[in-house]
Amino acid sequence: MPKLCVNIDHVATVRQARCISEPDPVHAALLAELAGASGITCHLREDRRHIQDQDVARLKQSVKTRLNLEIACTEEMLELAEQFAPHMVMLVPENRQEITTEGGLDVAGNLQRVKDATRRMKQSGMLVSLFIDPDRAQLDAARETGADVIELHTGAYANAITDQERLAELERIEAAALHATMNDQKLNAGHGLNLRNVKPIAAIKGLRELHIGHSIVSHAVLVGFERATREMVDAIREGEQLASRYTAEQILQHFSA
Ligand code: PXP
Repeated sequence: MPKLCVNIDHVATVRQARCISEPDPVHAALLAELAGASGITCHLREDRRHIQDQDVARLKQSVKTRLNLEIACTEEMLELAEQFAPHMVMLVPENRQEITTEGGLDVAGNLQRVKDATRRMKQSGMLVSLFIDPDRAQLDAARETGADVIELHTGAYANAITDQERLAELERIEAAALHATMNDQKLNAGHGLNLRNVKPIAAIKGLRELHIGHSIVSHAVLVGFERATREMVDAIREGEQLASRYTAEQILQHFSA
C-alpha cells in the first residue's frame, strides 16, 4: 500500500496567524508519526507564510521517520536544503500570489536548471523528487534530470466538479503512473487528497507515497492529529485493497465516501 507522508505546513499556518509558538508543527509531526505516518513533509516557501527556517531545523532533529523538504528551485532554497540536509528534497513551482501550489513544475521547459539542481542536491546526499502534472512530456523530461522520484500532482482530480471530469483526471493519473512505471521511474502523488477522494488514488498501481496535508490538519482540528492521521492510513489501505476487486471507475463511483 502507498505510504502516507503527512504535510504539517498548515499547523504552522495557524501559529503564524498569531506569530506565537503554538500550535507547534514539530509536535504535530511527532503525533503523526505515532499514528502511522511514514514520513513528514514541509514546504519552506520563499515568503515564509507558514513553515519557518527554525521549524525545518527542529523537524530535522526530531523526526524519526523521514523528513521531506519542499522548495522552489532557487539559489536561496537550494542552499538552505544543503544546510538542512533532509532525507528528500521536493522541487515544486512557486508563485507568490498563489494560495497553494497550483500546478506542476515545468521540467520540460526548464530542463537544464532542474537537471543542475537535481545533480547538486544528489551530490549532497539527498533524494530528489519533482512535483509534476500527470503529463508524458513532463515525465520524460523528469527522467532526463536524473531525479530519484516524481510526484504526480493530483490537484485537478481533487478539484474536478463533475463525475465525468473526475474520472477523466483519474485516468490521466493512471496513464501517467503506467508510463512512469514502464520508464522505471519511482512514483509518489499528492495535492488536494482527503478521506473522500483518496481511495481511487491509493488503488493506482506503482504509487509509493501519498503526500497529504491540508485535509489532515483540517480534520485534526476537530478530532486530533493522531486520529486524523490514522484514519487517512486506513483509507489508503482500503483503497489499495479495492484495486484487486474493482475497476478504477467502480472505486470512484462507490467507495469515495
Ligand atoms: N505535494 C506537494 C508537492 C505539495 O506542494 C503539497 C502542498 O503543499 C502537497 C503535496 C499536499 O497538498 P494538500 O495540502 O492539498 O494535501
